[in-house]
Amino acid sequence: MRTFTRSFLALLFIIFSIFQTQAQGGRIPVSAKKGMVVSSHYLASEVGKEILAKGGTAMDASIATAFALSVTLPAAGNIGGGGFLVYYGGDGETTTFNFREKAPLAATREMYLDENGKVKDNSNHDGILAVGVPGTVAGLYKAHQKFGKLDWADLVQPAIEIAEKGFPVSPHIVGFSNWVLENSDEYKSTAKIFLKDKEAAFEVGDTLIQKDLAESLKRIRDHGADGFYKGKTASLIANYMKANNGIITKKDLEVYEAEEMQPIEGTYRGYDIIGMAPPSSGGVTIVEMLNILEAYDLTEMGHNSAESLHFITEAMRRAYADRAQFLGDLNFNPQVPLERLTSKEYAEDLRKGILAAKASKSDSTNFNKAHAAYESPETTHLSVVDSEGNAVSLTYTLEQSYGSKIVLEGAGFLLNNEMGDFNAIPGYTDSKGRIGTEPNQIEPEKRMLSSMSPTIVAKDGKPVIVIGSPGGRTIINTVLQVILNVVDHKMDIAKAIESPRFHHQWLPDTSYFEDWGFSPDTFKIYTEKGHEIETRETQGRAMGIFIDPVSGELEGAADSRSYDGKAVGY
Ligand code: GLY
Repeated sequence: MRTFTRSFLALLFIIFSIFQTQAQGGRIPVSAKKGMVVSSHYLASEVGKEILAKGGTAMDASIATAFALSVTLPAAGNIGGGGFLVYYGGDGETTTFNFREKAPLAATREMYLDENGKVKDNSNHDGILAVGVPGTVAGLYKAHQKFGKLDWADLVQPAIEIAEKGFPVSPHIVGFSNWVLENSDEYKSTAKIFLKDKEAAFEVGDTLIQKDLAESLKRIRDHGADGFYKGKTASLIANYMKANNGIITKKDLEVYEAEEMQPIEGTYRGYDIIGMAPPSSGGVTIVEMLNILEAYDLTEMGHNSAESLHFITEAMRRAYADRAQFLGDLNFNPQVPLERLTSKEYAEDLRKGILAAKASKSDSTNFNKAHAAYESPETTHLSVVDSEGNAVSLTYTLEQSYGSKIVLEGAGFLLNNEMGDFNAIPGYTDSKGRIGTEPNQIEPEKRMLSSMSPTIVAKDGKPVIVIGSPGGRTIINTVLQVILNVVDHKMDIAKAIESPRFHHQWLPDTSYFEDWGFSPDTFKIYTEKGHEIETRETQGRAMGIFIDPVSGELEGAADSRSYDGKAVGY
């Protein structure tokens, strides 16, 4: 074992045997001068910080943090899923990495439909057919080849150590363990990992050891991406699929490639916005909304005033309608009008239809009656900045909480259920909310549309805000509101993240507010304009960093809505 990981882990285990959790979240940001790691698990953030302290780049630390999350945050951290990474270098270079899962080669447009054209047994979300070809390992490896400084093996090793030695189980994992106990006959391979013993679920503070996962990570440590897409792990995937009527084969794994892509770029009140291009819908939708909002004086209206909420809703309504109509994997949809959707002129056209006193109505007939499909809140985001001013914004996911809930037998990691993010029924709409538009229909090797929105905001060629969140389709609006809170309302990053949020996504034509943060007076004025509202407990779990453009000092904040999130500076 390498010396630094040995001493690092010794320290961690002394600390965490005393304290069950070291989660941090709240209205006070964590300050640091050199570097910052913010993620949804305190152990993973510590891993990232240790990599920075060893001279690693923000990319090195992000990769190590992501591998650590695959161990400590099995709900969303993963090697069996996929995601996106946005990079902004201290030298001004910007780029992105797309490692979204792909549809298997044997996938077909109507693969989930029964003879009546309905989705059979929720099979696009549940069961082996819901699994997309994983992208995470290919994406992290590609990003390391371009921007890594430390050895790849040193970035995977801390995750291996945590998997072998175990870590204290949090309430969220206890919840999953109880679900596994109830479903252990159907999810046998999952029960081997996520139960304390055959008849008992884990309790808070128990130690979760993941030996099979450690072995899978060792193959990745020793062979890079080939340690996942070839050799033993590839055989385990292909064999498990064959034995369980799945369709992913060795060929799917062989042909999987992560992509480096041009970011989506926009501006907002003198700041540059750097986001992810499709198959993420985040970059386009955020830039479109910011372009619409730029003409309104949100500062003067006041934070979360009914008036500002009204204009933000109208921006959301319009941008989400375009998301539903136009966006899908660019490799299969070269016609997507990216330039138009992200232009100031288009925003000006859209603003012409916005009235100050009256809500618009979302009209499904224009867009194939598209509406809101269920999307899981279980995804995870990490933000990292290093001492050279390089910044990484990375969001990845298994789709729903614990993905397909299927642990790959013998490999110890959970498989995603990302195929559910495709439009399952071509052209079909129902009142519960599915989108049937063409750009996001299933095709072999196509990537399903995502709402993951890793974003970097910059000024004068330097990153200023590094931000992202989980939350399915709400992600885009969570990131939007954090940006507005910093830029328009001059909040520090912790307050910007903690502030109450809301969500509108065109259809259903309803605004969803966090139930604890808005006054009845505000709701009264807002609904008098014609908006429908509902409340929900929580929206997103943002992880962000602010870099002071003058002093270069860093402030990090992990959303207190997260279970175990932590900002760690050094
Ligand atoms: N699976 C959630 C997303 O990609 O948006």
